[in-house]
Amino acid sequence: MKVTISVIKADIGSIGGHIKPSEALVDAVRDFVAAKKGDLVIDYFIGTTGDDIAILVTHTKGVNNRQIHKMGWDAFKTATDEVAKPQGLYGAGQDLLVDAFSGNVKGMGPAVAEMSIEERPNEPFVFFAADKTDPGAYNLPLYLGFADPMYCAGLMLSPKMFKGFKFRIMDVNYTKGDKSIDLNTPEELYDIAALLRDNQRFVVESIWSRETGAQAAAVSTTRLHNIAGKYTGKDDPVMLVRVQGEFPATGEVLAPFEKCHLVAGFMRGSHTGPLTPSKLYTDISYFDGPPVVTGAAFCVHHGILTEPADVFANPFWDAVRTKAAAKAVYIREQGFFGAAMLGMNELEYGGIVEKLKKLDARFKIRETKKKK
Ligand code: 13P
Ligand code: 13P
Ligand code: MG
Ligand code: MG
Repeated sequence: MKVTISVIKADIGSIGGHIKPSEALVDAVRDFVAAKKGDLVIDYFIGTTGDDIAILVTHTKGVNNRQIHKMGWDAFKTATDEVAKPQGLYGAGQDLLVDAFSGNVKGMGPAVAEMSIEERPNEPFVFFAADKTDPGAYNLPLYLGFADPMYCAGLMLSPKMFKGFKFRIMDVNYTKGDKSIDLNTPEELYDIAALLRDNQRFVVESIWSRETGAQAAAVSTTRLHNIAGKYTGKDDPVMLVRVQGEFPATGEVLAPFEKCHLVAGFMRGSHTGPLTPSKLYTDISYFDGPPVVTGAAFCVHHGILTEPADVFANPFWDAVRTKAAAKAVYIREQGFFGAAMLGMNELEYGGIVEKLKKLDARFKIRETKKKK
């Protein structure tokens, strides 16, 4: 059966700063989506990660479907108007950047990741959501999980993976349309590496099996500052990854998250911090972070979802979280200096630009003696 899995995620307000959405707000989103079950959507899951709410739905309408996107938009808009604003939540409607829905929710603020798949007899996949970071945060784990046999032993052991994968990489700085390149592993591994190292600009958009041509992964690539032209919150990306069979095993996809690699998006979207693998529904704390990623694994059959398995709940990840906390404190020791704060290319959407402009006018240039 052909099924589409769509995730639409937004920050529409949270309690006590950028911490977590209120229960009433999540309920309002859930009620809105639940009313569509058996009609527009086959099944759904509502998750929260930090201050973001994600709507995951299964349906048969394909990707970029107007009705599905409108449902997501309307769910967030209704919950904003009926709960976030009356409750006085912080940043009510934060990610709803335009006034009216116009066909496709991409480019309007919410993050979207979706895949149309031919369901395998058993169809396991993982839904990842990250808060206080941007889509480039997934570059390293995807590179390691799909292209490095040190992490993905299946590249050596599973004949269905011997041909490797196709990476579709987007240049998110290009705003006139979608600019992307397709590169194959293993032949073009070094080209992929050369792009993915610049994870503010080049972002994995999707990954495809070279054995079967089937899609393995879909990542939301929205950069909010490219839409709004100013800082309006971090992009907080979502991702779908199919696992097992011709794709990496679940554990191979998860293994790279043990690194807690440093990503952009800590405090005011302006600092560097470790991506911390966290339990579902984890909220935000230290220095408006640290950046968190959650993972909900499902099996889907005829569009019906199992309950989620929380992939970072195993006690192993407690030790990893302790490491992440140490890394967070380590980089925070140097405050705003050097590598701890993002470069000007990221900060140019924030207030520091005005400050620097004013200061620039106060600089004095001393005449130097001219040589005769
Ligand atoms: P099972 O034998 O438990 O299905 O595991 C297979 C596997 O390869 C997991 O990585
Ligand atoms: P969010 O994008 O998750 O709302 O975070 C904004 C922020 O800058 C917190 O410091
Ligand atoms: Mg927020
Ligand atoms: Mg957020």
